[in-house]
Amino acid sequence: MLALLLQLDLPTASNFAPMVDRLYDFVNIVSLVSFVGIVGAIVYFVLRYRRKGKEPEETPYIEGHPLLEASVMFILFIFVMIFFYWGWVDYKKMMHPPPNAMEVSVTGRQWLWSFEYVNGRRADNELVLPKGVPVKLVMNSTDVIHSFYVPAFRVKQDVLPGTYTFLWFVAEQVGTYDVFCTEFCGTGHSAMLAKIKVVEPEEYAKWQKTWEWEKQLGLAPTAGAVEKPAGAPGGAPAPAGPTAMASPAERGEKLYKEKGCNACHSVDGSTLVGPSLKGIFGHEVELEGGKKAAVDENYIRESLTDPNAKLVKGFQPMMPTFKGTLNDDEISSLVAYIKSLQ
Ligand code: CUA
Repeated sequence: MLALLLQLDLPTASNFAPMVDRLYDFVNIVSLVSFVGIVGAIVYFVLRYRRKGKEPEETPYIEGHPLLEASVMFILFIFVMIFFYWGWVDYKKMMHPPPNAMEVSVTGRQWLWSFEYVNGRRADNELVLPKGVPVKLVMNSTDVIHSFYVPAFRVKQDVLPGTYTFLWFVAEQVGTYDVFCTEFCGTGHSAMLAKIKVVEPEEYAKWQKTWEWEKQLGLAPTAGAVEKPAGAPGGAPAPAGPTAMASPAERGEKLYKEKGCNACHSVDGSTLVGPSLKGIFGHEVELEGGKKAAVDENYIRESLTDPNAKLVKGFQPMMPTFKGTLNDDEISSLVAYIKSLQ
């Protein structure tokens, strides 16, 4: 109610929007009631205890009231804990994407947003998504810190170089929504805008189908991309040549052979010099020293750039680092390939 009042006509366009607004309203109402109460008390006391003509100069000495003070603090503490617990419960929901979520990779760079779908379709500054489907964004930056913010969805997440961060939501209304960068990232920061276009699932399927036909016919890889904003250099370094429209997993498979990963890591479950890559994604591995690690995007990134940071139990620290020899796009492609080896 208040959120609506304060945010004017901001649409509630995701599964999280009503949830965030409820907490926002609650905090606002509690603040408003306290504000009116405190100001009311001040005004009342100022009038009630104002100096009246004939009274002596000296004011009486008033002792504190420990019980009253303690109860005020206790009530405040209860409210703070309600805010905290409520926020924590909501935050946990926002941090745990459902396993069936549709993935899209997001790259932030000075000063535009690049998107890539699992099938290899790329676009700059426009993300088309189906309505009612959980979407998980796997995000990375090629330069400085950016932040991906969709007010209509009430979601925001920093996008960092050298690591992956995640964001998920279900878009629940057809329409076009603004994406802002909310971390100052250089002179083009304010122009680092994108649109999310939410369409009916059937329309989305058709849109992807058209692109897949184009892919088979070898047509332009930039189909679907929109104009880059003024001042944005280059844009996505779209791969050229016959792999221009390859999916990330296909590019990863090629790299796996080119970079010689296949000399030590099988993809069929057999153990060579290093552990097999088959079926590891999304599971836990046991490390030397007894600890366990979950194999996710950041685990694979670390294994490529700092291979001895987490050594799988029973293997020797022999893997060379690929830091500096693989760029972000190549690392993401290898992640996508390993993900596909289920
Ligand atoms: Cu990117 Cu501000």
